[in-house]
Amino acid sequence: MRLAVLVSGTGTILDAMADAGLPVSLVVADRPCRAIELAVGHGIPTSVVERDSFGDDFDRTAYTEKLVAELDAVDIDLIAMAGFGTILEQPIYERFAGRILNTHPSLLPAFPGWRAVEEALAHGVQVTGCTVHYAELEVDSGPILAQETVPVLPDDDVASLHERIKAVERPLYIETIRSLLDAPPTREVCK
Ligand code: GRF
Repeated sequence: MRLAVLVSGTGTILDAMADAGLPVSLVVADRPCRAIELAVGHGIPTSVVERDSFGDDFDRTAYTEKLVAELDAVDIDLIAMAGFGTILEQPIYERFAGRILNTHPSLLPAFPGWRAVEEALAHGVQVTGCTVHYAELEVDSGPILAQETVPVLPDDDVASLHERIKAVERPLYIETIRSLLDAPPTREVCK
């Protein structure tokens, strides 16, 4: 079984996946980032499919097609987004239907989007957490596979709360991926 991991940032989840022995065959980033350096350190093949724009002129569909071509060059069974910062378009959800996962730092459907931790704090919730789910075209939607709660402490700021969430997110994501690789998803509609 071959796993591709999509990253944009610090890559602590990717690092934990590699340490846990998940069969990561390819790491793809949308920008140069620490996650790519970590992948190289683990001897995992990498590819940076760099965005040419972060503005209104960004062609999301064309970018997605480029990314799909990169993934198609390797025989991939499962794709795991791990802090990937680009919203992807239909072509990837058609090509890898039912085989794309995401992890999100809130208890979905609460607080979807980029500011999940900040919004949970601003709302004054006492409990938040993380969600591992199938990724679909609508951001942070898709069937939920696993969740775990994390208490919000009185002196938490965004950084401290996000770190505590990531501490539970890493093993939860790894466990979930491992169980899917052992028993591949049956809901796939692969082309
Ligand atoms: C995780 O909290 C993930 O849910 C969110 O970005 C974070 C990635 O962390 N989308 P890292 O780059 O693996 O350290």
